[in-house]
Amino acid sequence: MVPVSDGVELHQGPIVMKVTALTNDIVRVRIGRNGTLPEDASWAVPADVRGEHVSVTAAPDGFATADLRVRFDPGTLRMTMVTADGHVIVRDAPDPVSFSGTSFTLRREAPQGESYFALGDKTGSSADRRGRTFVDWNTDAFGFSSSDDPIYKSIPFFIGVGGDGGSYGLFLDNTWRSWFDFAHLDPKTLVMGAPDGPIDYYLIAGPSTAQVVRRYTDLTGRTPLPPMWALGYQQSRYSYMSADEVRQIARRLRDEKMPTDVIWLDIDYQDRNRPFTTNPTTFPDLKKLVGDVGKDGIRLIAITDLHIANLPNQGYAPYDSGTAGNHFVHRPDGSVYVAPVWPGPSVFPDFTTVAARQWWGTLFKGLASDGIAGFWNDMNEPAVFDTPTKTMPLDNVHRIDGDGFASRTAPHTEIHNVYGMENARATVEGLETLRPDERPFVMTRASYAGGQRYGVTWTGDNSSTWDHLRLSVHQLLNLGLSGFAYSGSDVGGFAGGPSADLLTRWFEIAAFTPIFRDHSAKDTPRAEPWVDGADQLAIRRRYVEERYRLLPYIYALADQSARVGDPLMRPLFYDYPSAIHASCNQDMTFTLGGKLLVAPPSNPESPQPYDVCLPTGGWFDYWTGLPVQGEASVNADAPIQSATQAALPRPTQAEVKIQEVPRLDLLPVFVRAGTILPRQPLVQSTSETPDGPLELDVYPGDGCSGMLYLDDGHSLGYTRGDFLRQEVRCTVTPDGVSLHFLAREGRYAPWWHAIAVTLHGWKGGAHVMANGKQVAAETKSGDQLSFTVPDSENDSIVTVNRH
Ligand code: GLC
Repeated sequence: MVPVSDGVELHQGPIVMKVTALTNDIVRVRIGRNGTLPEDASWAVPADVRGEHVSVTAAPDGFATADLRVRFDPGTLRMTMVTADGHVIVRDAPDPVSFSGTSFTLRREAPQGESYFALGDKTGSSADRRGRTFVDWNTDAFGFSSSDDPIYKSIPFFIGVGGDGGSYGLFLDNTWRSWFDFAHLDPKTLVMGAPDGPIDYYLIAGPSTAQVVRRYTDLTGRTPLPPMWALGYQQSRYSYMSADEVRQIARRLRDEKMPTDVIWLDIDYQDRNRPFTTNPTTFPDLKKLVGDVGKDGIRLIAITDLHIANLPNQGYAPYDSGTAGNHFVHRPDGSVYVAPVWPGPSVFPDFTTVAARQWWGTLFKGLASDGIAGFWNDMNEPAVFDTPTKTMPLDNVHRIDGDGFASRTAPHTEIHNVYGMENARATVEGLETLRPDERPFVMTRASYAGGQRYGVTWTGDNSSTWDHLRLSVHQLLNLGLSGFAYSGSDVGGFAGGPSADLLTRWFEIAAFTPIFRDHSAKDTPRAEPWVDGADQLAIRRRYVEERYRLLPYIYALADQSARVGDPLMRPLFYDYPSAIHASCNQDMTFTLGGKLLVAPPSNPESPQPYDVCLPTGGWFDYWTGLPVQGEASVNADAPIQSATQAALPRPTQAEVKIQEVPRLDLLPVFVRAGTILPRQPLVQSTSETPDGPLELDVYPGDGCSGMLYLDDGHSLGYTRGDFLRQEVRCTVTPDGVSLHFLAREGRYAPWWHAIAVTLHGWKGGAHVMANGKQVAAETKSGDQLSFTVPDSENDSIVTVNRH
């Protein structure tokens, strides 16, 4: 064992292992089998981050950082990472590293009671990965089931939750066909490996899951603040066949008063499915279409698949310019690889070269100048038709340059899992050049660790079943824990056709997920919100409207996510660690930003009553505004009902278990006591300025606070100070409650001039003073007090005292 300033180097025969501390909580492990370490290169971790290091304290058996101790058994290279006070975070199993030919296997202990999360959009009957084995191989998985693996994305990063030393993360930065066995073959061992490529992994200490995710995004990056319209409702279908049909959809959305920000153009806007063309008959004037729907506050996103039609000498510019620049993937004999996808025979950009990415970015010039707001990179596993493997041959040849890699060729086996991510990267970089002051919006289907830097994702071609609705919650939660703060599932399901109740329930749940897009396949029953008649439409509309009312809260979450990496949609244990041991089935329960707890039925199709476990600390029913009264519960034998169903007053103790009876028109949502929730008057699109005061719902409780964030919603002005960020706190005083508006950061002037406050849990009259002036207050049923105060950018206090 040789100490180095930031860690140690170990040798055992031909094996060399270097373990270094990037920070006090992140340790990088690299292992080489023939005396040399793998090259210091990565698609996921930028060079400046890989170059970070802290000085460590050498110890006889390893080293220590300020937060961790890393110990080795020099005979076996077995490593243990413990907290400063001696709790084991993660320990290698015996025989921790083994090799066979070019492949390697790593083994660690999987203590009983530890659960495993993240790993991207993998399937499974629960969000917990324990007891299953997964393979990373980006796959076009049309009609996948809840047990299919692999599907679209490869994010070889998981989080261990519930162990003695707290949560930890492990990111295996290997782009080959890696695999993870989470105590499946041997219930005590977590095994992982890959058929080739580097052993280069990062161990990330918590102890909280939130700290692990934040540190993982320190490593692999975060999604920058998206345009505000991306948080609105989005309407899509594979088969909007003409510009007129798109206009009709836009009109109907407006006539039905369905708030909407985006309509998506799938492949049918193109000429014979050829990327970067438009059908001259059915979509004769895209710019005009953009202008027409734009008058209704609706933007268009267009699909731009990566496969370029193989059309030599036919005046198809993407093919001609790509060929002139030698930008397409080759066969080993040097010929260009040609294979069928939507346009028929196609060629495939080699996104791993800087030059090909730059060329790809220029292809967006026309669509960008037509005013297309965002882009959809689909089929980028890459999908190939008419072949059992669904993708290109493994011996296809890519070229690599940059990102720390030596300039060399690489077989498709090495590049496959990063191909889609580099496609999205090329799109984003192109848009940054074409519209330098606009936030790019790109959605990709395939990706790899770090792909969140280039935008958002969705879970591909799901089906219109209740099982898929349940699966979508697990997938989105795990994507959020994998760094992808923005993801969505096709609302209603892509394949099949949803029943009326399924589509309605899907709308309700998706209204609280990061990307809210209704999408369905060609030749399936229509799935727009109005298809099942007025009653179902009314419920769906109510949830879309609620989403729009909540936009100030959601946008503030987006700001926070861009700065620290917290996902918008989170499992309960993210903010309430003890919830990992909850006594209810929490599989469908999630929070939007920690403060809003959404509790769909755990069997979403079942009419049976179900239990919801609310973490200790107090909750209000979001819909009634009333406090939830409950009984401390781990073994409560008489669960009681939520405020939506007339609660009995009982003391709030540890975990509170309540019972919900499923109702199609009601999705139970709870607000954490100690929340200040900003909301806004209803708009039909984010392009509309809300009319009236900003609304602040105050739910007193411990650590009571809320955040306001605003900017122009689309430009990069916020990076230059054109934003507004303001914290609001509340304190329970002997006489009532006081609200503290802290001074604002940034110089953006908001649309509101007044703030309408609703104080929940208040009984009787009140005397309200804002900036030394008395303000009229009104008591409302349901223990609410409301009053309006002038907007204030400076530090100011509002006091609410009992009469
Ligand atoms: C793929 C996509 C789907 C899209 C279709 C046509 O199946 O996953 O969302 O509608 O291609 O472009």
